[in-house]
Amino acid sequence: MKILGIETSCDETAAAVVEDGSKILSNVVATSSEMHAKTGGIIPEQAARQQVKSIIPVIEQSLSDAFNSKSPISKRKAQSSAYHQSLITSINAIAVTVGPGLVGSLLVGIETAKSLSYLWKMPIIPVNHMVAHIYANWIDTGKSRTKNSEHKNALPHTPNTNHQPLFPALALVVSGGHTDLVLLKNHGHLEWIGGTRDDAAGEAFDKCARLLGLPYPGGPAISVCAEKFIIQNFLPADITHQELRPDNFQLDMFPRPLINKDNFDWSFSGLKTAVFRKIGGKKLTAKEKQRIAAEVQEAIVDSLVEKSIKAIIKFKPKSFLLSGGVAANKRLREKLKKRIKSERLRVKFHVPPIDLCTDNGASIATAAFFNFRPISWKKIVADSGLTIIGEI
Ligand code: KG4
Ligand code: ZN
Repeated sequence: MKILGIETSCDETAAAVVEDGSKILSNVVATSSEMHAKTGGIIPEQAARQQVKSIIPVIEQSLSDAFNSKSPISKRKAQSSAYHQSLITSINAIAVTVGPGLVGSLLVGIETAKSLSYLWKMPIIPVNHMVAHIYANWIDTGKSRTKNSEHKNALPHTPNTNHQPLFPALALVVSGGHTDLVLLKNHGHLEWIGGTRDDAAGEAFDKCARLLGLPYPGGPAISVCAEKFIIQNFLPADITHQELRPDNFQLDMFPRPLINKDNFDWSFSGLKTAVFRKIGGKKLTAKEKQRIAAEVQEAIVDSLVEKSIKAIIKFKPKSFLLSGGVAANKRLREKLKKRIKSERLRVKFHVPPIDLCTDNGASIATAAFFNFRPISWKKIVADSGLTIIGEI
């Protein structure tokens, strides 16, 4: 089954075609983040306007990438109705993000998907954006293909499932607006274990970056700055291999609230206040900025790692799934992986490649494949405040 996944919850306009919830046939993302970098954060109205401009070209591109990758087509052919018809008949269903997110942005994807579903007489599946982040871990990125699954006699449409997480799975979802820890007993059976009581992890990165005068989105900017500090201060020049990097850096300038509490919750809102006080209105040198960036990153990463390890020990899942935009953070990926190893926890660590951590259409299509519940287009509505375990 080939599903077209559409994602417009924030400042990315994304569409992808995924086969059998695993194989990416196309994955197109247009972002308006550069525009928001100028204002230091997202202006919802502007993001929605940009979504309107991008949605049709992005969907068109994803369909043509999926089914015409081999031969470039002429302009005339691209405009012919026979060509369009051939693309449409190649997909079996449409999946779309219905929340959480910015309502103006969500509506662009939703109304487009509904119109296409009506015109093409195709099933439509509403998808929870946060759940879709988790499902990025089901996508086959080729890393864990066994020799057997690549055997030339294998059936062309046999999906490779070696890479897929096993249930029960524990998922940490860390994005710009949400931070949740959930237990997945099976597809569609999610239990909420804990989450942030105030700011999301990504929000903490973004707000602290702004205080440091770093561009939006703040997570990648802080990560680059922090890496410079770590390399200059803690790493012997000859250590380049990730596994050999020491990671017991003394970076404890900022507090890690709730870290020793017997729950699976976080609180990140105090971090920006602590950073604000530390800066104290001074003009920072590049080195001072890098140090604070490294301290911010370490405080967030430590909090996320400690609670995740505690939850793995308590719930004993077979798989641990890291996901969401903040999962792109190298230090978080590294530290979680190493702690799971050093604590000898019997759990398989999964994390998507960077481009599938941040918002994309492939995760939406994949989530819809494994939770295939089409509904009438008339019943599909935007729900900007949808929670990770919320009813759609
Ligand atoms: O999941 P996502 O792309 O969009 C939402 O659903 O919110 O997450 C965006 C968040 C932003 O807060 C961004 O700063 C953060 O993910 N992010 C990172 C990194 N890349 C993106 N945070 C830390 N390190 C990164 N490398
Ligand atoms: Zn997201």
